[in-house]
Amino acid sequence: MYSLLRNLLFKMEAEQAHYFSMNLLRAACSIGPVRKIISKCFTPSQPELIRTVFGLPFRNPVGLGAGFDKNASYLRELETLGFGFVEIGTVTPLPQAGNEKPRSFRLPADKALINRMGFNNDGVKVIRERLEEWKANTTPHPPSADKLYRKAGFVAPPDSGGELGRSLPAGRQGNRGNARMIIGGNIGKNKNTPNEEAWKDYEICFNELFDVVDYFVVNVSSPNTPGLRALQDKDALLKILGNLNQNNRSRPERKPLLLKIAPDLTPEQLKDIAEIADEINLDGIVSSNTTISRERLSSASKVQAEKIGMGGLSGKPLKEASDEVLQELVRLTKGKLPIIASGGIFKGEDAKDKLNLGATMVQVWTGFIYEGPTIVNKICKKINL
Ligand SMILES: Cc1cc2nc3c(=O)[nH]c(=O)nc-3n(C[C@H](O)[C@H](O)[C@H](O)COP(=O)(O)O)c2cc1C
Repeated sequence: MYSLLRNLLFKMEAEQAHYFSMNLLRAACSIGPVRKIISKCFTPSQPELIRTVFGLPFRNPVGLGAGFDKNASYLRELETLGFGFVEIGTVTPLPQAGNEKPRSFRLPADKALINRMGFNNDGVKVIRERLEEWKANTTPHPPSADKLYRKAGFVAPPDSGGELGRSLPAGRQGNRGNARMIIGGNIGKNKNTPNEEAWKDYEICFNELFDVVDYFVVNVSSPNTPGLRALQDKDALLKILGNLNQNNRSRPERKPLLLKIAPDLTPEQLKDIAEIADEINLDGIVSSNTTISRERLSSASKVQAEKIGMGGLSGKPLKEASDEVLQELVRLTKGKLPIIASGGIFKGEDAKDKLNLGATMVQVWTGFIYEGPTIVNKICKKINL
């Protein structure tokens, strides 16, 4: 069924197809009974899928990676499709148009995408307002969610102040989660902000979004903002993360703080990141972003990729490289740091590979485009075996 729709969508330019399909879904979800049917078909319901990570109650461990809903415009629709969590953004302080179009391309022969979006987003103020509205319209405990949490062995709903029958890490009790779907805020810097001042952009986004997201991801790994990945170097990273960490700890209740890394880091850079994570008690890592490498493409796609030019590669050809980085990170952090694995997840088996390597949860993006709206349910069924 989805393959028919996909054939139609793939006739459109990639970014256009993205908004067309999400707006179609929005129209369907605006009709209450239709939304209920979609939700029933696509939302995993096994209580064993619920897990507490960073003190937050995730309804299932399959999330949507950053960049899909950059502006927090489609949360209800994504919730209806069953995602356990959605990472909005990358959000920058000021609105940005991003790079010239076209800037997103499909490589169907390799089930991949190349993008050079360049952090197009509505800016943190508008996105904050949208999230406030989402929060106001989202009852924290829909009866169905309560039932699910109780079935899973929680003695009380997970955001009722920490009275849980399951372990919440000490000091993190009462951290309000969204019982329906957890929202991560992926933050970045504006294109025109010099790297020396980047820490201020991250702080602006952190302060603005603090009350409206459940966790934060510091994105220093996108290949499409010139110079951004240089912020993965130890000193630059310490400046940004150290500052946010201090800000976070000065508050009565802190938010989980994660870092998103590129799959193209050197072993030394990975080692530095593990050290920093330990030094500032980072809550987790998202591994990984897209790659600038074209090495693992088939020869047909290599020709296509050459014509496309610059951009981050995602999907199937990223799987192996992101698995390798994940494995190394787990080794360096001695398996103690929660890792959200991203990169080339299409099927339950791919997610299982990541979990077996030591990931705590997974995120999809390109797989969602190629596999369609059943992806969350299918992965959840497989990992729940
Ligand atoms: C079109 C597109 C835009 C993206 N934008 C962002 C972004 O703004 N911020 C970010 O951290 N990652 C972004 N990503 C990276 C994804 O979140 C994900 O980490 C990456 O695509 C690897 O996963 P995948 O192979 O499942 O697609 C983007 C990916 C794509 C395909």
